[in-house]
Amino acid sequence: MKNNKITLFDFNTEFDKKTNWKRESIINKNMFLEVLSKIEELNENNKIRFETLKVIEIIKNPVKDNFGLLNIYSNGDTVKVNKDVLLEDLNQIADSQTIDRAKYYIRRLKKSLTEIKTSKINDLNLNRWKEYDDILTESLWILDKRDKSGAHNANYWGNFIPQIPNQFLRRYTKQGDWILDPFLGSGTTLIECKRLGRNGIGVELSPEVVTIAKKNIDSEENKFNIKTEVINADSTELDFKQELEKRNIKSVQFLIMHPPYWDIIKFSKNSRDLSNAKSIEEFLNLFGKVVDNTYDVLDEGRYFAVVIGDKYSQGEWIPLAFYTMNEVLKRGKYILKSIIVKNFEGTKGKINQKKLWRYRALVGGFYIFKHEYIFLFKKEGKK
Ligand SMILES: C[S@@+](CC[C@H](N)C(=O)[O-])C[C@H]1O[C@@H](n2cnc3c(N)ncnc32)[C@H](O)[C@@H]1O
Repeated sequence: MKNNKITLFDFNTEFDKKTNWKRESIINKNMFLEVLSKIEELNENNKIRFETLKVIEIIKNPVKDNFGLLNIYSNGDTVKVNKDVLLEDLNQIADSQTIDRAKYYIRRLKKSLTEIKTSKINDLNLNRWKEYDDILTESLWILDKRDKSGAHNANYWGNFIPQIPNQFLRRYTKQGDWILDPFLGSGTTLIECKRLGRNGIGVELSPEVVTIAKKNIDSEENKFNIKTEVINADSTELDFKQELEKRNIKSVQFLIMHPPYWDIIKFSKNSRDLSNAKSIEEFLNLFGKVVDNTYDVLDEGRYFAVVIGDKYSQGEWIPLAFYTMNEVLKRGKYILKSIIVKNFEGTKGKINQKKLWRYRALVGGFYIFKHEYIFLFKKEGKK
C-alpha cells in the first residue's frame, strides 16, 4: 500500500502536541471495527482475551501496530479517542469472565465509535460519556484557577470565573442555541458563547460597563461565526420579548443570572442598579422582576442558572442566596434541579484584607465566606 500515512496523532497546535499525545489516539476506524468484529466472532474466552491483549499492546505502544489500527491515511475514516478510556474498555473485554459479557462489551465499544447519541439540550455524545471527564456532575465545585485565556481577564471587580458559563453551556445548550444573561457585567458569558459556538444576548445597566464588555467580547475570535448582542438597559424594566423580536430571535435556550450580591459591591450610582437597593426586600423585588421579565423568552424544558453569594452585616449572616433562590421558586414556574456550592476566593479587595478578616472572625465568632451558590432551575410546564 502506498505510504501516504499522515500521523498517528492529530495536533492542532504546539500546545496540543505537548498536552494531548499521551491522552488521545487517532484510530483507523474501519480497521479497528474489523479487528473488533473478528474478536467478536471468537467462541473461546482465552482467544478473546489473547486477541484483545494484542490490541491493547498496540494502543499502548504504537510502534507494534502490525494490524494498521493506527494507520491514518489522508482520505481515511478516523476517530479521535481518549486513550485511557479506550484502554479501560479493552481491558474490560479482556477481563470478562464469560463470552457473553465480552461480546456485550465489544458491541458497546463498536457502538461508541460508530453511533452518536445526543440529548435534546446538548451536543455531548452519550455513547462516549466517559471521555467528558472535565464536565462536572457533582454539587461541590472547587475551581482553583480562573481561566484567563483569550479575552478573559479578571479586571472587572465582581465578574464570575469563565468556567461557570463554560460548564453550563456545554451541558445545557447546543451549538447555535441562544443564551441570555441579563446582568452581563464585563461580558464573560458572551466570550464563552463565542468560544463554544453559541449565540448570546447580554443586558447591562451601566453604559461604561457596556463599553468594557463590548471591547472584551470583540477581542475574542469568532471561530463559529455566531452572533452576540449587548443591550444597555435596565433588566427590571426591559421587554425582553420585544428586544428579541427586533433581532429576529424567537426565544433563548439558556438563561444565566449573576446579579449583584445586593450591596456588597456597588456597581454604579444608578437607583435601578440592584446593588443600590435600600433593603433586602427591595433587592429581592427587583430581582424577581428580572425573573418575570425573562420567563416567557426561555424555551420550555430548558435551564436557568443563578450565581449568588451570601452577605454578612452587623454581626449577622444574611442568607441572601437562599432568599434569592426562593424568589424564583415561589413563582411556581421553575423546578429546582441542583444547588451547587462553589469555592470562593476573595475578590481583589478581600485578598488584601485576608488577615484582618481572620482577626474579625475570631473576635466576632463567625466564619469567613469561602463559598457561593449556583442554583439550577428548569422551566417545566408549571404555568
Ligand atoms: C455581579 S455583576 C455580573 C458580572 C458578570 N457575570 C461578569 O462576569 O462580568 C452584576 C452586574 O449587573 C449589573 N446590573 C445591576 N443592576 C442591573 C439592572 N437593573 N439591569 C441590568 N444590569 C444590572 C451591574 O452593573 C453589574 O455589572
